[in-house]
Amino acid sequence: MAQPQLQELLEQLWGDYVRVNPQARAIWNLLESKGEQVMNDHIAFRTYDDSRIGINAVAATFIQLGYEPKDTYAFEQKKLSARHFEHPDQRMPKVFISELQTAEFSDELRDAVQGLVDQIKDEQIRRWDFPVLGRPWQVSHATYERMRQESEYAAWLAAWGFRANHFTILVNAFKSIDSLEQLNELLQDNGFALNRSGGDIKGSPEVFLEQSSTLASEVPVQFSDGTFTIPGCYYEFARRHTMPDGKLFQGFVARSADRIFESTDKRDRTQEK
Ligand code: NI
Repeated sequence: MAQPQLQELLEQLWGDYVRVNPQARAIWNLLESKGEQVMNDHIAFRTYDDSRIGINAVAATFIQLGYEPKDTYAFEQKKLSARHFEHPDQRMPKVFISELQTAEFSDELRDAVQGLVDQIKDEQIRRWDFPVLGRPWQVSHATYERMRQESEYAAWLAAWGFRANHFTILVNAFKSIDSLEQLNELLQDNGFALNRSGGDIKGSPEVFLEQSSTLASEVPVQFSDGTFTIPGCYYEFARRHTMPDGKLFQGFVARSADRIFESTDKRDRTQEK
């Protein structure tokens, strides 16, 4: 069993995540009602590459709780880099942390990011529950919209801060659902919209990982200039395949994740509430 503190962190992350993303609870309930045991493959986090809050800062708590750094990834189109972390107890979810390469963007975006990060207090960053701190800065919807023109990722993070961007269910652990196709059909039959960017299923058995995800539901968020409805979090599903050496693939496939990132893109005009 994981140590109590890790269990507590995972529970806090899940509790926060289903508050922001009620569809995750509904999907979880749907799967349990089918007699399935829901097991997490990974939990994903987003951050900016500012050294105060970068991948290493978000990872610090997980490292303390026994996680080990594994592979790194580059997403050239979205201008992100990422790393995944694994716990020696393989039943614990992997942790996937990406960060925005702010040097690749305009001075305006970089200044806006710095303005956000400068608002965080050192003691907030040092908290053991930093990965589930929430949004530690004030930001206007106008800034959010300006960021969004350059990077949906930058804007999402400005609005939501530090929390699970998504949980991912390990489809391999299901008893009666054998494929992502079958799961996707079940979800769509029950009214959940999938992210179709790059096809319903990203990846293939040939790259040892298949993934799909819901589209993030839009939820009201309070900005410094009013409350606006924007995309929140999404739920992801992964089916892992066995490699030629007989081991189950544990990494990530950058080309697939590239399209999964789009699950939080804004899909229609912003509505002021
Ligand atoms: Ni993921």
